[in-house]
Amino acid sequence: MAGTVVRVAALADLHCTKTSQGAFQALFTRISEAADIAVIAGDLTDYGLPEEAAVLARELTALRIPTAAVLGNHDLESGKSGEVRQILDAAGLTILDGDACELLGVGIAGVKGFGGGFGKRALGPWGETIIKQFVREAVDEALKLEAALARLRTTQLVALLHYSPIQQTCEGEPPAIFPFLGSSRLEEPIGRFPVSIVVHGHAHRGRHEGRTKNDVPVYNVSLPLLNRVFPGRPPFLVLEVAVDA
Ligand SMILES: [Fe+2]
Ligand SMILES: [Fe+2]
Repeated sequence: MAGTVVRVAALADLHCTKTSQGAFQALFTRISEAADIAVIAGDLTDYGLPEEAAVLARELTALRIPTAAVLGNHDLESGKSGEVRQILDAAGLTILDGDACELLGVGIAGVKGFGGGFGKRALGPWGETIIKQFVREAVDEALKLEAALARLRTTQLVALLHYSPIQQTCEGEPPAIFPFLGSSRLEEPIGRFPVSIVVHGHAHRGRHEGRTKNDVPVYNVSLPLLNRVFPGRPPFLVLEVAVDA
């Protein structure tokens, strides 16, 4: 079957503040010119305040392509993520939290994710109740990702996360904080579905590219990271996804 290519702009960690008015419009205009759809991998706001979301909503008028997003830990900081979500939804973003959407034939499954660490050193559910609760949160986020991926019927899937599913794209950060940057538990569902690309943020000082153990490309599109790796370029990646015509 003949296919077409959809250009997916990916970025994360905008950390929009109450004084960010005008800071993102030029970036969003560039994204709208360079891509067909966009994904934003969390930390849209700095403190998770509705006032910050309202500033971002005004900036988003410059983003003229279909866009899906997940919230990040910063968007939860003030306990007002419901309001933040509502404001950004009204501004045209499709906010995903364990659910999925289809944009121009590309299936996108989105979840915030959680920490716990990677590989053999990942935190296990053992000992204190609070440790078990911490691990439970990571397991629940992985189950939400699995359910979202299972809902999609498109041939090409994008997994959109805030936390990383692999250690590779966190390298560059102090190793002491790796367990707070992501969880291998998020990698498990990605290997069970035809995921073409994984996009995440959160690790501002990590690496921009890595691969899961099943060789699925993973992109850390954190804005400060992209500014550092690609100086002089606007801080987003354009990833091409082939879809059936
Ligand atoms: Fe961030
Ligand atoms: Fe974050």
